[in-house]
Amino acid sequence: MEIYRQNRICISLLSQYDPHLLDIYKAEMGYGIERFFLLSYCLACCWPGFAAKGNLRIVNQWAELKFEFPSPEAEQTARANEFYVPGASVPIDIGVFHKKGPEKSVIFVTIPRFDTGRPVTLGTVGADGIIRGYPDYETNDNQGRNCDGLTSVFRVAIDRCDRLWVMDAGKIGDNAVCPPQLLAYNLKTNELIYRHRPNPSTYIATSLFITPVVDVRGEDPNDCSDTFVYVADVSGFGLLVVDVANDRSWRITEKRFYPFPSRGTFTIEGESFDLMDGVLGMALSPYLPGRDRFLYFHALASTTENVVRTSVLRNDSFIHDPNANPHSIHVFPEERPNQSAAEAMDNKGILYFGLMDPPSIWCWNSATEYSRRNFHKIAINRETLQFASGVKVVNNLKGEQELWVLTSRFQKVMTGTIDSNSINFRIQAEKLPILLENSPCKMPPKNNHISYYADNIPIKFPAYSSKYGATSYLKR
Ligand SMILES: *[C@@H]1O[C@H](CO)[C@@H](O)[C@H](O)[C@H]1NC(C)=O
Ligand SMILES: *[C@@H]1O[C@H](CO)[C@@H](O)[C@H](O)[C@H]1NC(C)=O
Repeated sequence: MEIYRQNRICISLLSQYDPHLLDIYKAEMGYGIERFFLLSYCLACCWPGFAAKGNLRIVNQWAELKFEFPSPEAEQTARANEFYVPGASVPIDIGVFHKKGPEKSVIFVTIPRFDTGRPVTLGTVGADGIIRGYPDYETNDNQGRNCDGLTSVFRVAIDRCDRLWVMDAGKIGDNAVCPPQLLAYNLKTNELIYRHRPNPSTYIATSLFITPVVDVRGEDPNDCSDTFVYVADVSGFGLLVVDVANDRSWRITEKRFYPFPSRGTFTIEGESFDLMDGVLGMALSPYLPGRDRFLYFHALASTTENVVRTSVLRNDSFIHDPNANPHSIHVFPEERPNQSAAEAMDNKGILYFGLMDPPSIWCWNSATEYSRRNFHKIAINRETLQFASGVKVVNNLKGEQELWVLTSRFQKVMTGTIDSNSINFRIQAEKLPILLENSPCKMPPKNNHISYYADNIPIKFPAYSSKYGATSYLKR
């Protein structure tokens, strides 16, 4: 677009906003996504002191999260019981749903209960940046007393059937106050349409279910019943597989769900902390009729990337033997230069992931070898791209895909030095065609159907068995 015309639009758009309000809201979400993108462009180009840093645009940013309470009394009660401790809430993940029609797009955030003090664990972000409990405050106002509500949500997933999948870990801090549960909401009506409480045999005392990815398998786009959800167990070092159609689930263990002690120290902007988290980042290859999908995953404390055919995970014989070795989980021989938290894959098979050091977002085309020479930079920024704990590819109403990233100064959270005088949390986004404009990530492959580097991986069945933890031997 001609800069001149765009700037004129910007000036008239910005003039509708009180400069004081603009300062507070920075990049508020406007009426619908087009207006939002134009507004954030305008803020970046024309508003002094608000230049976009990197290639992603800031949608929301906070020094401290603010919440909407149903009444002043509810807020008072929450404060008195320390269910709300200002400054304690740390967002981890995002979900974005672009609604059809005149309604606004919805941005979801998750705020896990690492401890008490978080009034809301799943919320939507208002135009004013204030977070409202989803589906309502009461469902979130649980704090371990109402296990039909939400206890602690780390990550969410939105599927092509307009369903929001919510993995509730059931823990406040290390206390398992409620059983874990997987929920699904219909995003058109906000109704709860599915609840699954996995059998206690599918998790252990240290389990923490944090990342769901959804595999809708029906060939007909309107067929939403044949659905599997794969969930990372970050500290029980396993994978939960939920077979939604049959309402059952099973556990899979394998050494690649574990962290590496040599990768357990994180350094972000000169501050270090230790975190021995296992499997956390997960992404599914696009659905192609008649073909298997790949699940890509990695432990937080690792620099390796693993891949497994989802048909291996869907084998229900794990119900009878959770310790059966899935055998065909493969690790790519080459490694990332640094640790990564979240990752996501687009409909062309391009993987997007954050790196800790330097704080940055990268892409890798899964048709190529997993190797540094095939990793290409999307954005790098020491200030705004620290610890990308939420990375999502979102479909917009024009059929384009967008990359959404939630970042935080997580090192400050871990070292107990977080303060509310500077920006700690950011949501950033950009359309993928813009981010990939000159990126080598979109070049290969030469043939026009998608092929995967992982297709070349031979399926091997080693002769040894594997067990994790002495108890699994002792039980026999
Ligand atoms: C499912 O797993 C069992 C036990 O490991 C194995 O014998 C069987 O061949 C697998 N089935 C398929 C379809 O891969
Ligand atoms: C991450 O990168 C930094 C700087 O290059 C390096 O010092 C550190 O060892 C890397 N961490 C890992 C786990 O590779």
